Amino acid sequence: MTQRNDIVDRKDIEMLVDRFYETVREDPLLAPQFAHVEWARHLPTMYNFWSSMMLGEQSYRGNPFQKHVGLPLERQHFNTWIKIFMDIVDGNFRGEKAEEIKKRAQQIAGVFQHRMNLMKETS
Ligand code: HEM
Repeated sequence: MTQRNDIVDRKDIEMLVDRFYETVREDPLLAPQFAHVEWARHLPTMYNFWSSMMLGEQSYRGNPFQKHVGLPLERQHFNTWIKIFMDIVDGNFRGEKAEEIKKRAQQIAGVFQHRMNLMKETS
């Protein structure tokens, strides 16, 4: 039986991010949304993003929402994104940080969707 530990350092974040996007890239709904992505740049950006969020690093600078505004995203894209994220966290980690990162991802996904809907209403 594989023992699952909590997320403790940047190596854990990198493993989580790598596994998450491996799955995303194979998902029929999400893969097309990432077709234009330059992975050699996107993956380190995501390591920095989550390490800043979870480990108190200050390695991420940017405006995540801005990157999503132009994407044709619907609720089902977010539902699938979240489901994959939860599954990857649960399949690899267990503990307080693991719970926290799932909560954060859900919160941000909620904010993105809220802002996208608001923008549709006002445009
Ligand atoms: C349907 C769900 C989502 C899709 C399809 C999606 C797709 C993308 C794409 C295509 C990029 C741009 C990559 C590039 O141009 O190099 C990106 C960037 C990013 N995404 Fe998402 N995303 C989704 C949800 C989320 C959520 C929920 C979060 C946060 C919890 C998130 C965090 C980020 C961050 C931090 C970046 C990097 C922004 C930067 O370059 O500074 N995304 N995403």
